[in-house]
Amino acid sequence: MSDKKGNKSNLEIELRQKGEIFRLFNQIACKYDITNRLLSLGQDTYWRNELIRQIKIEEGQEFFLLDIATGTGEVMKTFRQFYPMHGYLLGIDLSEGMIREGMDKFDKTDQKYLFAVMDAMCQGIKSEMINAVTMAFGIRNVSDVSTALKEIYRVLKPGGQVLILEFGLPQRGLWRRIYLFYLRYLLPYLGGFWTGCPSAYRYLSETICKFPSHDRFSKLMQEVGFIDTKWKEFNRGAVLLYTAYKSYKYK
Ligand SMILES: C[S@@+](CC[C@H](N)C(=O)[O-])C[C@H]1O[C@@H](n2cnc3c(N)ncnc32)[C@H](O)[C@@H]1O
Repeated sequence: MSDKKGNKSNLEIELRQKGEIFRLFNQIACKYDITNRLLSLGQDTYWRNELIRQIKIEEGQEFFLLDIATGTGEVMKTFRQFYPMHGYLLGIDLSEGMIREGMDKFDKTDQKYLFAVMDAMCQGIKSEMINAVTMAFGIRNVSDVSTALKEIYRVLKPGGQVLILEFGLPQRGLWRRIYLFYLRYLLPYLGGFWTGCPSAYRYLSETICKFPSHDRFSKLMQEVGFIDTKWKEFNRGAVLLYTAYKSYKYK
């Protein structure tokens, strides 16, 4: 991921060159959920609930949900809480460690979920299979955002919906400065202290700062072909929920 001038941070380049981003997640997998809850003061649950609330499901429709960068399966678990019986769920991620944590959360009698180790940028999924694609705090991690968006577009059925939850930066004012201070000086130490893996939280902080602004990211979605792109801010832009659709008539 690059900043506006195309520069990449040292840590990010180092990790990408070694293909080690998913190993970072393997290292923190067992403490991932609890660390999220602590660092977000429990709000991560609320953000995922909001994501699920925005999913459009037509009654009686056979529904396929793909959760990309599913990690410990929190989005799929939340979906199941809202819709205990409905829909087939597929969660994909590069980190086996994260996926293992996720599998433990599901009722073994539930036959309608599946986890798979798969890259967001090269999904072994048939085109036009999926009704809704979700991706929570994952798009920031992929090395080529447009390629991942094109893959999402490809696998969605015409009229299908994409919902992407991601960290952002408040645009201006005191809150932006406070948040930048938290990202640069507090988050790496708090996250590192708790998980024993400070580089994972330095990486988190760097990638949040480098991720495109909300209007730039919406443009990237439109360039891929998505229509009706919208975003909703939480905590004055520290977290954003992007939603869009694949047109029924598409290129
Ligand atoms: C911050 S976690 C988000 C997990 C989960 N979606 C959540 O809501 O908590 C990011 C996840 O992205 C995964 N990831 C990173 N790059 C990926 C890629 N290219 N393809 C698939 N997953 C990827 C990591 O392994 C990690 O589990």
